[in-house]
Amino acid sequence: MRIAQLLKSTDYGTKVTVKGWVRTKRGNKNVAFLALNDGSCVANIQIVADLAKISEEELKPVTTGACVAVEGTLVESLGAGQGVEVQAESIEVYGTADPATYPLQKKGHSLEFLREIAYLRPRTNTFGAILRIRHAMAYAIHKYFNDKGFYYLHTPLITASDCEGAGEMFQVTAMDLNNLPRTEEGAIDFAQDFFGKPCSLTVSGQLEGELGALSMGQIYTFGPTFRAENSNTPRHLAEFWMIEPEVAFFDLQDNMDMAEDFLKYLIRYALDNCKEDLEFMNKMWDNELLERLNFVLANDFVRLDYTEGIEILKASGKKFEFPCNWGCDLQSEHERYLVEEHFKKPVILINYPKDIKAFYMKQNEDGKTVRAMDVLFPKIGEIIGGSEREADYGKLSARIKELSIPEKDMWWYLDTRRWGSAPHSGFGLGFERLLLFVTGMSNIRDVIPFPRTPKNAEF
Ligand code: 4AD
Ligand code: MG
Repeated sequence: MRIAQLLKSTDYGTKVTVKGWVRTKRGNKNVAFLALNDGSCVANIQIVADLAKISEEELKPVTTGACVAVEGTLVESLGAGQGVEVQAESIEVYGTADPATYPLQKKGHSLEFLREIAYLRPRTNTFGAILRIRHAMAYAIHKYFNDKGFYYLHTPLITASDCEGAGEMFQVTAMDLNNLPRTEEGAIDFAQDFFGKPCSLTVSGQLEGELGALSMGQIYTFGPTFRAENSNTPRHLAEFWMIEPEVAFFDLQDNMDMAEDFLKYLIRYALDNCKEDLEFMNKMWDNELLERLNFVLANDFVRLDYTEGIEILKASGKKFEFPCNWGCDLQSEHERYLVEEHFKKPVILINYPKDIKAFYMKQNEDGKTVRAMDVLFPKIGEIIGGSEREADYGKLSARIKELSIPEKDMWWYLDTRRWGSAPHSGFGLGFERLLLFVTGMSNIRDVIPFPRTPKNAEF
């Protein structure tokens, strides 16, 4: 039985077997107390080993970090804050952990140190809690869309098109980099590569997601995406997971409604289903976490034009590190000013200048802006980016030409606007940005099991 279940049990007197990792051992010459954890919850179960029954010799290898199986009797606990404990009859050691080398001794460790031992950090309370919350959020995402009749579409990870047009792609090749085949002109001959042309890891599943929406009506993707952007910030990963719903017949308004409803659903789900872990995170890392989660649930998101947003920022009198004028891409400091200081609520900023957004966004009549939307959250800044899509063949193909995007990469995407085009919209939610918000952590490297960032692909 898992420890989470045992701790709720009142079947005193029953024989049980518990297996897990020793967090601490203390005691005296008559009795030893072990705190055992198996990853099923933050709490440990207490194992009481009577030295009359279990010899000191047997207990010797049972140290912090060791993995053991305990057989014993479940009894009511007299200790404060714990309902049950196990009176041990026998202890089998599966794996020892030499106290001289095992890095996770009782003392608290810094998050930086734990990143260096990311292969062991799930054995700490903090990372156990984060990974359980991560699991619950992934489940809730599938549940949300399934309950609404969306289909989960698996879009390719290897692609020949750059969805965001930012040129931040990791190339994929099977060629020998020390002996590249050349054309007569001396260029690399990709015709001889595995796919017969240059390919990369995808930055987004959106383009293929749109094909899904324009056939099945409403789909979502949920998979890893890759960006070779050299940003060493607490909010960027080179490999992150993204959720991208795409819906036929949705305009920008519908898209905003979906984004707000979706985010609130996920936060509500976490509050309802991850109570103990969230309380732990609130106590240990961010005393305003629960308050912030409830606050977002209780308030309507502000919906605001980019142009108005810029006016507010200019009128703020605040000294920003990066100045902002109409046409500039907002930095996280601007986003957070709007959300945390000006409105004190999540903000959906819409109708951005077309020059700072991707080619596929629906162009507004003003000729300057597109139907983009970014959802901005307290502590995070941008958590969602999305838009209504350009459904008009002529306008889309003109924009693709204008931006010199090779039509040989995009012909299939353009074809969807040739035959049976329809208004449609969608967005991308960065899974780890969501987890930053829900767990209260402040560095994105701490909400994914094995972070990939510039100069770091360990484990
Ligand atoms: O705003 P982005 O670049 O939008 C897209 O990729 C669209 N194709 C989505 C769509 O409309 N279907 O990325 C979407 C979200 C961001 O709002 C952010 O939450 C997250 O993905 N994100 C990152 N998360 C971690 N590390 C990075 N390097 C990220 N880049 C974007
Ligand atoms: Mg964006």
